[in-house]
Amino acid sequence: MKKASLFLSAGLLLSSLLPAQLSVNAIVDGQNPAAVISRHIYGHFSEHLGRCIYDGFWVSDTLQVPKKDRIRLDIVEALKKINIPNLRWPGGCFADEYHWRDGIGPRNQRPYMVNTNWGGVSEDNSFGTHEFLELCTLLKTEPYISGNVGSGTVEEMAKWVEYLNSDAKSTMTDLRAQNGRTEPWSVKFWGVGNESWGCGGNMTPDYYADQYKRYAVYARNYKNARLMKIACGASSSDYNWTEVMMKKVHVNEMWGLSLHHYTIPTGSWGKKGSATAFDEKEYFTTMKNCLYMEELVTRHSTIMDKYDPNKKVALAVDEWGIWTDVEPGTNPGFLYQQNSLRDAIVAASTLNIFNNHSDRVRLANLAQTVNVLQALVLTQGRQILLTPTYHVFDLFKVHHDAKRLNVNFSSPMYKNGDATVPALNISASQDSTGAVHISFVNIDPANKISFRAAMPGVKWTTVKGQILTSAKLTDVNSFDKPENLKIQPFSSAKKEGNELVVELPAKSVVVLELR
Ligand code: AHR
Repeated sequence: MKKASLFLSAGLLLSSLLPAQLSVNAIVDGQNPAAVISRHIYGHFSEHLGRCIYDGFWVSDTLQVPKKDRIRLDIVEALKKINIPNLRWPGGCFADEYHWRDGIGPRNQRPYMVNTNWGGVSEDNSFGTHEFLELCTLLKTEPYISGNVGSGTVEEMAKWVEYLNSDAKSTMTDLRAQNGRTEPWSVKFWGVGNESWGCGGNMTPDYYADQYKRYAVYARNYKNARLMKIACGASSSDYNWTEVMMKKVHVNEMWGLSLHHYTIPTGSWGKKGSATAFDEKEYFTTMKNCLYMEELVTRHSTIMDKYDPNKKVALAVDEWGIWTDVEPGTNPGFLYQQNSLRDAIVAASTLNIFNNHSDRVRLANLAQTVNVLQALVLTQGRQILLTPTYHVFDLFKVHHDAKRLNVNFSSPMYKNGDATVPALNISASQDSTGAVHISFVNIDPANKISFRAAMPGVKWTTVKGQILTSAKLTDVNSFDKPENLKIQPFSSAKKEGNELVVELPAKSVVVLELR
């Protein structure tokens, strides 16, 4: 009796110490492809904020790095490798105080301006319209420009579009030619204001909807440049904003309606939490706040469906990402933060959510590309490093413009205290060559997941994979160890009959290719 109870308690003790065996049975449906995953879900954002543009993309003449004009080419090369599909500029909050005419013409005659939103620093307007579009040309990416509604006029926006896109003779196109560019650029993605409920003018949704229509009417379409106008949408769960916009603005009047949502580790804007020093409890709340994107996208989409059942209007999540406290000793207005394995898990989980809503989410922009918030690239003088988040975008680029495949499964739960979140998220797609790609995120920090899937309709003979993981969730790439986290080959996936069998390590992002 005594022996038995000792044995029992030792067993209980052991099972609470040993990692749990989590397993999942799934179906990857190759027979009924769903909506294409627009590559524009993989867009990025570069605001005049901290060291994103100035001392990021755009550096001093004297910095000894490869440059075209003052554009840093090592950053360009890194971003080209992950095929960034679009780049949003000049903000953010900055956009609603930006007067584009200050950023054209001879650089030594451009006025200085104070960046009142971000650190109160002066900037010399040396990076303006021509420089941004040159950057997009080098990156081979589509520009996405946000026009100023908050402090600009309808005329100012209309003239900017004419300057950019018209090929007819006018004062604007003459000015463009005088500044060195005869051909129009054919910019298509066009934001009509940013966060008009906040830094973009503190408007009510009713007032903004009316303003949107005025600005949108005069932002004209020119030859080869039909504008894809993106209206300012909700902040996180402001469902009323979406309701009013969809009710008041006709589906033919906007290409997209935006949504902004940031993952704050602690959930509090006061003390957001460190980018590198966090415990498991804070990791858990971060993941809970990140996975909330699923509910946001679902509920905003449901409202949009009421007014737009044919899904003409895109939900454009044109600002998302993890927002932590700044790195100690840096300017609080510059939003410079490190990037750990946790960031990679946040990025991959969010991209899986967007992929799985590809019928409605057709554009998204991670905030922000270089040196700001959840950056892809960090710089220090001549050095650059690629963050774990960069590697996720590299792994996931296989989904660009591929047909989404449904994956049916029920996730095991990752538990912390009394709270739980799904431990596993997945998306899958089939590209134009027939290859199937499946991206998995196991967010559980301690337990591996055994995954087995039937693959009806998928013809394949081989599977290969890549993984991003590290010993600790807090691990980062630093200027001393820039390759601490990098993509590695993954070999724990195999074919059994026509079933796919995978062992997913704890806290990992895995992407498989089946051919
Ligand atoms: O990305 C940083 C800021 O966050 C943007 O300027 C603003 O739109 C949002 O509040």
